[in-house]
Amino acid sequence: MKHLETPTGRLQRKLFRRNRGSMLLRSRFVLANFTGGILDSDNKQQLKGGRYALLGYIPKAGRGVEVGVWRGDFSSALLTHLKPALLTLVDPWQISEDDKVVFPRSKESGQAIGVEQSAIENQGDADELYQYVCARFSPHSNVKIMRSTSVEAAGSVTDQSLDWAYIDGSHYYEDVRADLESWLPKLKSNGILFGDDYYWRDPEGNYSVKKAVDEFISTHRPQTWVVFRGQFLLRF
Ligand SMILES: C[S@@+](CC[C@H](N)C(=O)[O-])C[C@H]1O[C@@H](n2cnc3c(N)ncnc32)[C@H](O)[C@@H]1O
Repeated sequence: MKHLETPTGRLQRKLFRRNRGSMLLRSRFVLANFTGGILDSDNKQQLKGGRYALLGYIPKAGRGVEVGVWRGDFSSALLTHLKPALLTLVDPWQISEDDKVVFPRSKESGQAIGVEQSAIENQGDADELYQYVCARFSPHSNVKIMRSTSVEAAGSVTDQSLDWAYIDGSHYYEDVRADLESWLPKLKSNGILFGDDYYWRDPEGNYSVKKAVDEFISTHRPQTWVVFRGQFLLRF
């Protein structure tokens, strides 16, 4: 006998299909919440739940840039999960003299904010970190390392050549604005800008990343955008 499907059943199935994307996102999110992050088996790194979930929305085998690399932990995750045709890593690994240091430091403690409190105290340490990252990615012919600031690096990248750019360099307002403006023209159509620490606060307590991203969204009107557990993602 032919099974007669109830309208309700059909509707439920349709809704399920339509919402599959967000349900998938939610299940990754729940899992990440539950485990406190995803343990990346290749890198032995804990990926923050929000980052891991958003990686599912980035095209695989594309060309992408990570702005702000530090010791390359997330670069390694990008490499493993997205298998990019080309991954460009941009960081000056430069200690700066003025207050807007490249490794932002708390005014009270003098310690780096938002990055591991490891022993980056002088330019020699930053140079060592750069050497470490070069050695770490030397087996990967699809990884290119650019030791320069984000804006300088963007100047030498061809317009409309990238599928995505991950923005995690300086978190100060002007720098985030400049980074977003510099990398947007480098994206192909449907390209994605995404980044970390949307709710980061500068030493004065301002939500500097949020302000820059919000303004950028209202100026440039991406097709879609989402903020998810401190990560932002804008598709153009
Ligand atoms: C939060 S760390 C990056 C962490 C890395 N994305 C990760 O998740 O493992 C910030 C990095 O941004 C770099 N940085 C600071 N100013 C920059 C700029 N103007 N352009 C590119 N990178 C910058 C710093 O040198 C530092 O390594």
